[in-house]
Amino acid sequence: MANTNQGEVMLKMTDIHKSYDQLDVLKGIDLEVRRGEVLAIIGPSGSGKSTLLRCINKLETIDKGSIAIKDRFLVQTKDGEARYANGKEEREILASTGMVFQQFNLFPHMTVLENLLEAPMQVKGLKRSEVEPYARELLDKVGLSDRADYYPSQLSGGQQQRVAIARALCMKPDIMLFDEPTSALDPELTGEVLKTMRELAAEHMTMVVVTHEMAFAREAASHVIFMAEGNIVEQGEPEVFFAAPKEERTKAFLQNML
Ligand SMILES: Nc1ncnc2c1ncn2[C@@H]1O[C@H](COP(=O)(O)OP(=O)(O)OP(=O)(O)O)[C@@H](O)[C@H]1O
Ligand SMILES: [Mg+2]
Repeated sequence: MANTNQGEVMLKMTDIHKSYDQLDVLKGIDLEVRRGEVLAIIGPSGSGKSTLLRCINKLETIDKGSIAIKDRFLVQTKDGEARYANGKEEREILASTGMVFQQFNLFPHMTVLENLLEAPMQVKGLKRSEVEPYARELLDKVGLSDRADYYPSQLSGGQQQRVAIARALCMKPDIMLFDEPTSALDPELTGEVLKTMRELAAEHMTMVVVTHEMAFAREAASHVIFMAEGNIVEQGEPEVFFAAPKEERTKAFLQNML
């Protein structure tokens, strides 16, 4: 990666291959994200963006390559075989990632506050009293402190997505993964979610964001990757990438997004 930033490497993916049956979805992806960087991944539908993101927290497994999070290998390929870290090691590595989905995926039968408390209490075994102050702080941060006792169905899509962000943050992840977090929202609600994400970026949260929001990628990303058909076609710093794309495919894609 051309980035000369010398911060700690938080995520390193090397030669990532993934296929479903006969379909090669990821064809040898390499990328690196340093502490505090925001990596935006863009590209046409079906290019493998979600699959790549989901490999980072093992919602999908890879066939070949390696993934290291903060210098610990989640998976490494030896003798042609992708080998994942074992139980405890793997859980610890995965615990350093938080994910926000297009469809929010909140627990519908739990209040907003309970959604935030669930994983820290169940997964980390913390007491309610140890988590609740932080959970409330996060709700305040995403502008929803007055919605703690609401159920997800009583909230707008934008509010639900901000709860989902707060819920992921409540596990104190080192890297936040976002898969098109505003794509399911009405246009008037995307702004509030992007604002929350911009604030996170400004606080130097390390983020990997699959997005169709070119303005967000342009302003908030430190690095942009353009994928097509399972490959990285072009990448760079947003100022250069958007102002002067080199590849025809990138130019055509960006034209279409306007
Ligand atoms: N579980 C699966 N089984 C089989 N094929 C899959 C599976 N998940 C994804 N694919 C295929 O892998 C390819 C890449 O899908 P992926 O969801 O990663 O694309 P994407 O870039 O995120 O697209 P979009 O912008 O539409 O979200 C597609 O051809 C898709 O049909
Ligand atoms: Mg996708």
